[in-house]
Amino acid sequence: MSRIYYFDHAATTKIRGEVLEEMLPFLAENFGNPSASYSIARRERRKVDEARTKIAKAINAESSKEIYFTSGGTESDNLAIKGVAYANSHKGKHIITSKIEHPAVLNTCKALEKQGFEVSYLNVDENGLISLEELESSIKESTILISIMFANNEIGTIQPIREIGEISKRHNVYFHTDAVQGMGNCKIDVKEMNIDLLSMSGHKVYGPKGVGALYVKKGIELQRLQDGGNQEKGKRAGTENVVGIVGLGKAIELAKADLEEYTNRLVMHREYFIVEIKKHISKVKINGHRTKRLAGNINISFEGVVAEELLYELDEKGICVSTASACSTRRKIPIPCPISHRTFNRTSQKHNQNNHGTRNNWGRSRLSNTGINRNRGKIKATIKTSRSIKLASFI
Ligand SMILES: Cc1ncc(COP(=O)(O)O)c(C=O)c1O
Repeated sequence: MSRIYYFDHAATTKIRGEVLEEMLPFLAENFGNPSASYSIARRERRKVDEARTKIAKAINAESSKEIYFTSGGTESDNLAIKGVAYANSHKGKHIITSKIEHPAVLNTCKALEKQGFEVSYLNVDENGLISLEELESSIKESTILISIMFANNEIGTIQPIREIGEISKRHNVYFHTDAVQGMGNCKIDVKEMNIDLLSMSGHKVYGPKGVGALYVKKGIELQRLQDGGNQEKGKRAGTENVVGIVGLGKAIELAKADLEEYTNRLVMHREYFIVEIKKHISKVKINGHRTKRLAGNINISFEGVVAEELLYELDEKGICVSTASACSTRRKIPIPCPISHRTFNRTSQKHNQNNHGTRNNWGRSRLSNTGINRNRGKIKATIKTSRSIKLASFI
């Protein structure tokens, strides 16, 4: 089989060798239940706590006791938003979020609306950024929580997290951020950024799937969502996923270690690719903010080309890209939130309602300018064929 070029690191990433190595003993001989009290189980407990410490350090949390392990980003978002909403409903029932959150946040908010909570969904501008003025003017007496994602999973826009944190603090409202895409790609400091709750996921940071964590600042009232044992200080019942937790801790520790070098390299490749694409292919639009975006994210619309068809053609050539988040691809309606396509195609709606952006997310796979040129060449050839077929219907 010819080489596969994987450009969908926002959907998932491959486990790093060092992470796998750290995990393997916990799939075999190290099988103890971390809640048991004999020595072989205490070893597992120690490894779980080590991972907790690594994660707390990576985000500059005050204490490892502020890290709770979950089954992934979706559960972390649910626990953060519902947990705060249920525990604080006596103070108020209003939540603020944005229209471009991941379904893990949007659908959690929708579920809360059905239970009598009120949710304000902030707009985003053509770059995917929320307005801080709109955020501040949306806060009212009954507001208990602001939940705004760190970085978007489709167009990569990074929100003004520090400023959102300041507004939350000024108004005495809790601030949760879904940092599933930001973790391992951006510098995160929960103290400096005034973040009260932060969601993360293993499989987006070259760790395993089915494991995640939630940072909850000390003192925040959070109601548990599932009944059962007293694991995770009573906030998340169920025997810990030791092998997953060990992998998550290692992956986050490694990501933190070379963050700057890694993101600088991605930005260099991204900029080179954009220049090359613009030089060789006409009528392209780069969606999202030019600089305030994830280092490895490029979201491009090619005028007159239906992104889903382009995806299929590129797949045939061994190039993996996507049009939307993996959680939206099985939907009949392309996307549940008004993100790149609707927001960004405001300028190009006359061209094609279905002209979604093509999401490229680069990561740790080996990449050189020669590789980039080879890909650009394949994309160019595909676009050319696609345009010559579609020209009639486009006009
Ligand atoms: C921004 C964001 N939040 C939450 C999730 C859900 O994370 P998980 O797949 O770990 O449940 C994802 C996954 O795509 C995501 O991109």
